[in-house]
Amino acid sequence: MASYVVTGVNRGIGFEFLRQLSENPSSTVIGLSRNKKATEEKVKAEIGRSNIHILEADASDGAALKKAAADASKITGGKIDYVIANAAVASEWSEYRNIGTLGEEPERFEKDILDTIKINTIGPIHLFNFFLPLLRNGSAKKAIAISTGMADAEMISKFGVDISPSYAISKGALNVAVAKFDAQFRKEGILFLAVSPGLVDTGKAATLTDEQKVGLGQMVAKFSEYAPNWTGAITPEVSVNAVVKVINEASIENGSGGAYISHWGNKQWL
Ligand SMILES: NC(=O)c1ccc[n+]([C@@H]2O[C@H](COP(=O)([O-])OP(=O)(O)OC[C@H]3O[C@@H](n4cnc5c(N)ncnc54)[C@H](OP(=O)(O)O)[C@@H]3O)[C@@H](O)[C@H]2O)c1
Repeated sequence: MASYVVTGVNRGIGFEFLRQLSENPSSTVIGLSRNKKATEEKVKAEIGRSNIHILEADASDGAALKKAAADASKITGGKIDYVIANAAVASEWSEYRNIGTLGEEPERFEKDILDTIKINTIGPIHLFNFFLPLLRNGSAKKAIAISTGMADAEMISKFGVDISPSYAISKGALNVAVAKFDAQFRKEGILFLAVSPGLVDTGKAATLTDEQKVGLGQMVAKFSEYAPNWTGAITPEVSVNAVVKVINEASIENGSGGAYISHWGNKQWL
């Protein structure tokens, strides 16, 4: 009888959340997408389950998220067990470049950081705040931010992971937001947790430019240094399976409140 809200469900990890979370027919899974019709068609063609509901919302638009919370409330009778802030961006321009190179175009870089933070940080903050009344009425009471190991300052420094500054900064800020939510709402029994899904192959590598491929290759080399036994990117299926396990096992009682952990349930990012 669990109910879920997940953002960014039309592709990648978000779509896999829809697929896995809807496997139990008694669960209700509500996916937020900025293209409801196309997502509904994809769900019908590739999953085909009636316990999935798609609502339209841009994940960076506070008013749209507020309306989504009201619409979700009508579907579930005023409660939600799990809210998963999954939607995010890493801009093509900044994802495989470093902070110094991006800084050569300061105005463009500033806009890139702000645009990324609006979606990756402020979007989840609005999402959690607007869904809080529903979480209070739910049984599980878990709010999950999908983060990234790329925001781990210790790993960045130790292994020289210099690319993707806008994205990493936005997710680092998201981790702090999760801690702030925990600081205020743990006493109400609501778990706020940031989870990294690992490095996941969502099919984007094939579309990279030659310059981006060089950046990706350098990043993978640093990742191999960080985790010598790492065997490369995992599938969305493997990642979501692991993340769901982490979410299910996490609790305020076992110390997960406000934490930032990986799909392994610890600080090992790969
Ligand atoms: N893949 C990885 O290796 C990896 C590693 C670490 C962390 N993560 C995190 O895992 C999550 C999912 O990543 P992914 O790889 O599945 O990404 P993805 O394939 O690029 O999908 C991103 C999703 O977010 C949605 N989205 C982006 N901006 C949006 C907006 N303003 N409003 C509504 N939806 C928006 C996209 O919808 P549209 O199609 O409409 O743009 C899409 O559904 C993200 O939080 C990401 O940071 C991924």
